[in-house]
Amino acid sequence: MQKIEVFGANKLKGQINISGSKNSSLPILAATLLSSKRVYLNNLPKVKDIETMINLLKSLGSKIKFDKKRLIIDNSKQNKKFASYSLVKTMRAGILVLGPLLAKFGNAKVSLPGGCSIGTRPVDIHLNALSKLGVKYKIIQGYVHATAPKGLIGSKIRFPKISVGATENLIIAASLAKGITILNNCAIEPEIKDLVNFLIKIGCNIKWVAKRSLKIIGVSEINETTYSVMFDRIEAGTYLVVAAVTEGNLNIKNVIPNIIQTEINTLKKIGAKITVKKNEIHIIGNRKIKNMNIKTAPYPGFPTDLQAQIMVLLCKANKKSLIKEDIFENRFMHVAELNRMGAKISTNGNKAVVEGNINFAAAELMATDLRASVSLILAALTAKGKSVINRIYHLDRGYENIEKKLKKVGAKIRRVN
Ligand code: EPZ
Repeated sequence: MQKIEVFGANKLKGQINISGSKNSSLPILAATLLSSKRVYLNNLPKVKDIETMINLLKSLGSKIKFDKKRLIIDNSKQNKKFASYSLVKTMRAGILVLGPLLAKFGNAKVSLPGGCSIGTRPVDIHLNALSKLGVKYKIIQGYVHATAPKGLIGSKIRFPKISVGATENLIIAASLAKGITILNNCAIEPEIKDLVNFLIKIGCNIKWVAKRSLKIIGVSEINETTYSVMFDRIEAGTYLVVAAVTEGNLNIKNVIPNIIQTEINTLKKIGAKITVKKNEIHIIGNRKIKNMNIKTAPYPGFPTDLQAQIMVLLCKANKKSLIKEDIFENRFMHVAELNRMGAKISTNGNKAVVEGNINFAAAELMATDLRASVSLILAALTAKGKSVINRIYHLDRGYENIEKKLKKVGAKIRRVN
C-alpha cells in the first residue's frame, strides 16, 4: 500500500498549474455514449476516477485511446448496456451511464453505486426523474434494470432536491428523447454548465431558460467534436487553502477566478491577500487567521468538496468557528484524524465546532475519502516533523500529481511504497 510522507512546516512559494476538472470530465465521458461519431477530449486530469470511467466505457464497448494529450473516443460500435458493480462501486459517478444508455438503446442494466464513507449516495432522484421520461425500472440484486419501451419521451420535470448527478443524468437522457423536456430546480455547478456546452457542441438542443431551468429538445443527429473540459475548481480551491494555511505565496494558474468567487471571498475574510488576473489567482497567506462560520451549500454557495480543507485552516484561526455540512450526511471523517494531530474539533450530527489557535503535531494518519485525505496533507504541511498518510488511493482518485505540484513550491513531500 502506498503512503505519503510530509515533512512540515514550511511556507510554500511558487506557481501551481491547475488540471482539468474531474467532476466535469466524468459526466462528459458518460455523455459520449450518445454519439456514434468520434469525440476528442482535451484537458482530462490523470486521476483514478477518470481511468475508472474510461474502463467502464470500454466495458460497454467504447473504443478509447490516448493520442498525446487528447483522448479519442469512438462509440460507433458501442453496443453493451451492462455496467458492472465491480467498476461502479469504486466510483459513484458510474450511475451517469444510465441516462445515455437509455437514450441510445432504450434499455440498460447498471449497478447501484452503493454507499461510500461520506454517505449512502442514493439515486432515487435520478430514477424518479427518468421514469417521467417513460423509463420503467426494477432494482434486482443491487442493479437497476431499466427499459423505455416506447423510447424516452420529453416531459416537464422538477427535481425535489438539488442534485448534481441527477441533473447531469437527465440532461444527457433528455438530449435524445422525443420532444421537449423542461428540467426545473437543476443543480447549476460549473461542471453542469460545462456538460451542457459539450452537448450543444455535439449537436444537442439545450438552453438555460431560467437560473435553475433547462429546456431540452431531443435531437437525432450528433456531430463529431473536439472539446476541452474546464479547470478543476475544487483543486484550485484546495491550493488556495494550501497557501493560506502555510502562510505561503502561490500563483494559481489555468483558472477562471469568478467561477470560485465564493471561495476567494471566504479566504479574503479569513485574512489571505488575494489578487486575480484573467486566468490566475495570486494568494499570500496571513499569519493572523480570522475565524469564520461556514455552511456548505449547492453552487454558488460554499462547496462541500472544500469543507475538509477549510476546516484545517480554521483550526489555526484566532477563535472558534462553526462548520455546518448541509450536503452529505457523514462528511466529517477527517475530524478524528485531525484531532489526533492536536485539533480540538467536536461534531454533533452535521455541525462541527472548530477550536482555533491549534498547532498541528505530525502523526501517522489514515485517509478515508478523497477530500478528507487532502485535508490531512494540508495539516501535515504545517506540522513540524514527519507525518505519514496511509490509504492514499483515496487521494489519487481526484488530485493529479499532487506531490509534484507541492514539491515544486517547496513542500517536503514524497510517496513511499
Ligand atoms: C457530485 O456528487 C460530486 N461528484 C461530488 O463530489 C459533490 O460533493 C456533490 O456533487 C455535491 O456538489 C461528481 O460530480 C462526480 P448530489 P453527486 O447528487 O452528484 C443526495 C468529490 O469529492 N441525493 O448533488 O453524488 C445525496 O445523498 C465528490 O469530487 C439523494 O438523496 O451529489 C447528497 O446528500 C464527492 N438522491 C445530496 O443529495 C439522489 O438521487 C447531493 O448529492 C441523488 C442525491
